[in-house]
Amino acid sequence: MSAKPAPEAPAPPPRHVAIIMDGNGRWAKKRFLPRIAGHRQGVEAVRRVSRAARKLGIEVLTLYAFSSENWRRPEDEVRDLMGLLRHFLASELDELVSEGVKLRVIGNWRKLSPDLVSMIEGAIARTADNPGPTLVIALNYGAQAELATAARTLAERAKAGTLDPASIDEAALEAALDTGDLPPLDLLIRTSGEQRLSNFLLWQAAYAEFLFVDTLWPDFDEAALADALDLFGKRQRRFGGL
Ligand code: FPP
Repeated sequence: MSAKPAPEAPAPPPRHVAIIMDGNGRWAKKRFLPRIAGHRQGVEAVRRVSRAARKLGIEVLTLYAFSSENWRRPEDEVRDLMGLLRHFLASELDELVSEGVKLRVIGNWRKLSPDLVSMIEGAIARTADNPGPTLVIALNYGAQAELATAARTLAERAKAGTLDPASIDEAALEAALDTGDLPPLDLLIRTSGEQRLSNFLLWQAAYAEFLFVDTLWPDFDEAALADALDLFGKRQRRFGGL
């Protein structure tokens, strides 16, 4: 009698997943609705997918909610997005606390309106001692600005005499990024069929797996995330080796 081959152990989930949440506007347009309706459904997807990420064992989920280039949108759309963000923070905080989620924000979020800045500070403080998983929201974020800021931080330390310029290497620059203390990015997903990075996590994506899916962000759900993890599990990551 031949022994059955042992079933393959399921691949471990990626530790750090980031998502460019794209397609809210098109979702609304298809339904003859205003763009804000798409963004509202986008927030529902944020709730759904962040819960799903916890369930699926993802340690860090980083979501691109507002880029440093999104200020170019019409004033009322920017106002609507900030309003949704306020509402999200107010309505979701208790759940994040009770679920042990640590909230982090990356980007130049301190340049947002003062009430939003204090809401964000309060939310970060309330979840700071939570064990995790971590939900990272990128707000007023641009990767090029993040890299320039990191370079400036290192230059200031060198000028102050606390850092030897010769010791500046990849690890030093990485540690000076907003994401310096987070695990490496494993998987970067962009929804809505567009295939570009749009100034998101440029450094961190060096060895990430990319997945571009046609689903519009408001339609993205637990099953879509599980499918993405399955595809990730089948990828051969070589990190430059063979
Ligand atoms: C892209 O869709 C989406 C955004 C620029 C904003 C993403 C924001 C949310 C999902 C809501 C706020 C987030 C939180 C965390 C509360 P698009 O408008 O570019 O869509 P389009 O390309 O179809 O026009």
